[in-house]
Amino acid sequence: MQSYKNQSPLRILIANAKGGSGKTTIATNLAAYFASQGESVVLYDQDPQGSSQLWLKQRSDTLPAIRGIDACRPHSVNQTRSWQLRLPDECHKVVIDSPAAIKEADLRPLIRQADLILVPVLPSSIDIRAAASFIKTLMLTPEHLQRPGRICVVANRVRHNTISQEKLKAFLNCLSIPYLTTLRDTQNYVAASENGEGVHELRGRKIQRDCENWQPLIAWIEQLAHSRQQAG
Ligand SMILES: Nc1ncnc2c1ncn2[C@@H]1O[C@H](COP(=O)(O)OP(=O)(O)OP(=O)(O)O)[C@@H](O)[C@H]1O
Ligand SMILES: [Mg+2]
Repeated sequence: MQSYKNQSPLRILIANAKGGSGKTTIATNLAAYFASQGESVVLYDQDPQGSSQLWLKQRSDTLPAIRGIDACRPHSVNQTRSWQLRLPDECHKVVIDSPAAIKEADLRPLIRQADLILVPVLPSSIDIRAAASFIKTLMLTPEHLQRPGRICVVANRVRHNTISQEKLKAFLNCLSIPYLTTLRDTQNYVAASENGEGVHELRGRKIQRDCENWQPLIAWIEQLAHSRQQAG
């Protein structure tokens, strides 16, 4: 685990306006991974569907703890919105899950806060077209133009040797932003999400390939955290 003394947490936004692209899957798996490494992690749910919060509710107390913040929960008399949104004193990573069909006005404050923006893309023509349009929107926001170089793509639910995989490859190769890794289409993700786990935490299933798939993304994030630490 890295030392994070006096360092604000690294904020990782997972976003794609296209529904079902894997935002919650990537957010929850990242949160579980960092928690398993002994880090203090907040899973920040910006989606009114509350899928990340639901995942967290299934998570056993015996697993490394993740703190959930439901950004969409309405105010109550005894609980102000600022209290809900407050991060713990010691927090290393904030993973932000965002909703489908997010409007640009709602996206902009998230982009302003994020240190890294991950866009999951599925391998179908419809998804590729939607992702291209979303990435263009992201890149043209004033918040991104002020601090470029934060967007990365993760290919999700990819089956090898399929036409859709070839289409996705062609799309990813022509992007001017980094393409970090490919996650395969496997029931391991479904099984993990049922129990509030990440694939790294699954027992009794073959997870080695999936754990390897996450490595380039995790290495990228750790490198970013390290650079921030060096910069002071
Ligand atoms: N790599 C994968 N392999 C198999 N199933 C997956 C994979 N990634 C996601 N899924 C499944 O696909 C469905 C949609 O994934 P997920 O909920 O993460 O997408 P989302 O982008 O958060 O959706 P929404 O836009 O509705 O919030 C879920 O049932 C999830 O378990
Ligand atoms: Mg979701």
